[in-house]
Amino acid sequence: MISGKRKMQYIKRALHKTMIQKWKLIDSMRPLSEDVLLNLRSVFRTEFTYNSNAIEGNSLTLRETQLVIEEGQTIRGKSLREIYEARNHPEAIEYVSALAEEKRGLTEHDILTLHQMIMKDVMRRGEIGRYRKGEVRIRGAKHIPPPAYEVPRLMEEFVRTVNDNPDDYTTSELAAIVLHRFVYIHPFYDGNGRIARLLTNLILMKKRYFPIIIPKSDRSKYLKYLALADRQNYIPLVNFVAQYVIKHLDMVLNAIEQKPEERKLSLKEAAKLSSTSANYLRVLANKGLIPATKEGRNWVIPKSEIVAYVRRHRRTKQKITH
Ligand SMILES: Nc1ncnc2c1ncn2[C@@H]1O[C@H](COP(=O)(O)OP(=O)(O)OP(=O)(O)O)[C@@H](O)[C@H]1O
Ligand SMILES: [Mg+2]
Repeated sequence: MISGKRKMQYIKRALHKTMIQKWKLIDSMRPLSEDVLLNLRSVFRTEFTYNSNAIEGNSLTLRETQLVIEEGQTIRGKSLREIYEARNHPEAIEYVSALAEEKRGLTEHDILTLHQMIMKDVMRRGEIGRYRKGEVRIRGAKHIPPPAYEVPRLMEEFVRTVNDNPDDYTTSELAAIVLHRFVYIHPFYDGNGRIARLLTNLILMKKRYFPIIIPKSDRSKYLKYLALADRQNYIPLVNFVAQYVIKHLDMVLNAIEQKPEERKLSLKEAAKLSSTSANYLRVLANKGLIPATKEGRNWVIPKSEIVAYVRRHRRTKQKITH
């Protein structure tokens, strides 16, 4: 069973409930079709890169971002810096996706690696992949990040928070708090927001949620909620992030629905998908308990039917706390 025993500190109950329901529905349909996943990944790659860079002031359009990422084009009238910012992002997204699949926790080395990836050819060499050595201000914000000498200790603590969730936050709460904590510390001279948004997605993906995109159109809300979080009011930021988590669960549900899986599977293939045996499915088929049909001497069943069967019968094996 899935247990949801974390105490909810900032998230609205109704939002949390909706989120878990959608998560469970999707989880019951796993493994998701490769087509759906590939399509989602490629849309995400371009749209995340576009929005995450645009929030920071990059002027490339979505289409231009796509041309840079997918065709390796340079764009007339745009600075190399802006083009490199787009070019650099996919590698960092891949790195975070791979990390989400691994059993090990996040390390400071991972964070420095992400900075190297994101800021390649964008910042001065000596500043890439290294914490700042001097003070910084965040344009437009009242908050002044902590002095540079405190950054190493704060980052050690930050990584522990990501890995151990000592305050027992729910997943979307932790995702939002980590996002804020990172930009609050501001460990680098530049690129902090972009790395923070990647780490938010790491936390979500580790729990089999989908990565979220904070769109450029929500920039002013995003900045306002970060400023409220500076004063320990995390409620708006947490619920803002949660709302995007739900939006992305909905996107996946839509993508699944738009792709009816009418391919017919042999009972052997169907057994793999449903964690039962082909013999057991054959018994069910003979009794007319599953909508299998005969092709020659062999039983076959539409993939959508076996997915529905799994959805009805599957018990989630792995414990996930939301
Ligand atoms: N009040 C605030 N408290 C904490 N962080 C903030 C606040 N206001 C803004 N920020 C974050 O700091 C970012 C700017 O930092 P920096 O330029 O290092 O990161 P970036 O990746 O280049 O920017 P961005 O987040 O805009 O993509 C803002 O965009 C935002 O993410
Ligand atoms: Mg910046």
